[in-house]
Amino acid sequence: MASAEVGDEQKREDPTVLELERRVAELLGKDDAVYLPTATMANQIALRILTEPGDELLAEENAHILLSEQGGPAAHSGLVTRPIRTPAGRFAGDDVRNLMRDRTSMHMSRTRVVAIENTHNSSGGRCWRLEEVDDVVTTARELDLVVHLDGARLLNASVATSVAAAEFGRRFDTVTLCLSKGLGCPLGAALATSAELAWKARRGKHLMGGAMRQAGIVAAAGIYALDHNVDRLADDHARARRLGEALAAAGVPVDLDQVETNFVQVDVGPLGMTREEAIARMKDEGVLLSTTVWPTKLRAVTHLDVGDDDVDAAIEAIPRALGILARA
Ligand SMILES: Cc1ncc(COP(=O)(O)O)c(C=O)c1O
Repeated sequence: MASAEVGDEQKREDPTVLELERRVAELLGKDDAVYLPTATMANQIALRILTEPGDELLAEENAHILLSEQGGPAAHSGLVTRPIRTPAGRFAGDDVRNLMRDRTSMHMSRTRVVAIENTHNSSGGRCWRLEEVDDVVTTARELDLVVHLDGARLLNASVATSVAAAEFGRRFDTVTLCLSKGLGCPLGAALATSAELAWKARRGKHLMGGAMRQAGIVAAAGIYALDHNVDRLADDHARARRLGEALAAAGVPVDLDQVETNFVQVDVGPLGMTREEAIARMKDEGVLLSTTVWPTKLRAVTHLDVGDDDVDAAIEAIPRALGILARA
C-alpha cells in the first residue's frame, strides 16, 4: 500500500484503482467494475441504475439490502420493497413468479428487480447453489426483470461450493463484492457490471459522494487480497466448522446445518440469558461475538486474524462464559 502508484481516481488516473477494477471485473465475469468505499454503496448504486422511482424490489426479508441499509432503496431510488420470507435466505423462481405484479395494471408499481444475497448473512453465512441461482435468474429473465447479486461475501460462497465467482457473477446485471470482510482489506468494495451500466454506476458513485482521489493506497490492499486472501477462506470455513462442532459437543446451542462458511450462530435463548448478558460474559473471557437479526442468536466469525489457537481458546472460553459444564 505504501508503494502503490496513485493518481486522481475521480479522473480515472489512478493506475492501482484501474488495475483493481480490471481484476474484479475479470473475477466476477463482467465487463467492468467500479471501485467504491463500501458494499452498502455498491448495492445502492446498483439499485439506482437498474430501476426507476416507483419500481418494486424483491429480496429476501432479512437481506442486508432490506434490513441494514436504512431504507436506502426507498431513500436513494424511490423503490417499493417486497420481502420474500424464507427459512434459509434462499428463495425460488416460483416465489418471484408468484409475487410479480400485473404489468398491464395502470395502478400497481412495476416489479423490476430481484436481489439475491450470497452468502446470506442473517441465515448464518449460508450459500446459494448454482442451480438455485439459475432457477431465480431464469424466471426473472422470463418475466423481464433485472437481477442484482449482493455478493459482499461471494468469494466465501465460491470457495465453499467450489463454483468460480464468475459463474455466479455473469448471470447477474450487477454484482457487489466487498473487500473488507473475509478478504481482509481496511476498506473497499466494488460493483461489477456491463460496460454500458458501468458508466451509469460511475455517475452514481459521484452522486453519492463516493468518488475519491488517491484511492490507490487502499486499492493496493484489494489487489493484494485477491492474490493472497481468496483460497485461504477455506481455512476460515474449516475453523468455523471446528468451532461449531466443538461448541455443539459441549452443549452450546448451535445449529450445525447453518455452518457452511465462516459464521457460527450461537442461540443463547435456551440458556435463559439475554444476548447482552451473553455478549458481556464472553467478552470478559476474551471472546467477541456480535448480535444478529434474531433476538437470541449471536454470531461468531472466523477471519484472517483468527488462527487455530484462537479457535482453541474460544472452544474453552465460550461454554465456560455461558455457564455450561462440558459434557463428559
Ligand atoms: C450481505 C452484505 N451486504 C452488504 C454489506 C455492507 O457492507 P459495508 O459495511 O461494506 O457497507 C454487508 C455488511 O455486513 C453484508 O453483510
